[in-house]
Amino acid sequence: MRKAIIAGNWKMNKTMAETKAMIAELAPKVKDADCDVVLCVPYTDILAAKRAAKGTNIKIGAENVHWAEKGAFTGEVSAEMLKELKVDYVIIGHSERRQYFGETDETVNKRTAAALNAKIRPIVCVGETEDERVNGLTEKVLYRQITEGLKGFKSKDFDKIVIAYEPVWAIGTGRTATATDANVTIGYIRKVLAKKFRGSVAEKTRIQYGGSMNVKNCKELMAEEEIDGGLIGGASLKADDFAYIVNYNK
Ligand code: 13P
Repeated sequence: MRKAIIAGNWKMNKTMAETKAMIAELAPKVKDADCDVVLCVPYTDILAAKRAAKGTNIKIGAENVHWAEKGAFTGEVSAEMLKELKVDYVIIGHSERRQYFGETDETVNKRTAAALNAKIRPIVCVGETEDERVNGLTEKVLYRQITEGLKGFKSKDFDKIVIAYEPVWAIGTGRTATATDANVTIGYIRKVLAKKFRGSVAEKTRIQYGGSMNVKNCKELMAEEEIDGGLIGGASLKADDFAYIVNYNK
């Protein structure tokens, strides 16, 4: 019922030339995918990525967006600017943004609203740190991130909003949540959505898993009922690996 979505998060990787080459290599390998295929790329790569992906089933996303319409925010990029580039998705509240750049649930909320206003689909990231996990705080943290980060949105907004559950301790570490654990935790996120919004929101919202998802574990993760896709870091930088994940059901 929910269409799977496999998205790459390139983080701070690839020049324009590398972007062009990667998408040219990737496109034929993912053309028969049953899921939505997305690459979220650095701002400087967006135009090259859009051009290279033209006429393919690959959608292009950004990795962040500011909430203000315009103004004195040196180094930031507005939703209007992304809209003009015809960006389809934008990652919001990635744990690296939360950890290194002061992102909070409040700024996540404002950025998500800006993306929705511009008709760009937000991929909102949530997830607990290692410390929070060992102290039994996972559900509490996720509850806060979901209720505060998505505060005020309407049922119809969740046709566009994608949630990425990314346990921070699994990002870039080679450690993955077990498929069962990831499934249970994403099931919990769905319960929060049902309670705070409504049952239909929990039913329809696509929730990805992210954190060292790769060619070895993707089939097992994607076989879980609650997991609707992946947000892939390292493995999205190689065409063969990313294509393998996108074609997880072939
Ligand atoms: P890795 O796949 O490299 O662990 O990164 C996950 C991630 O942060 C995706 O947003």
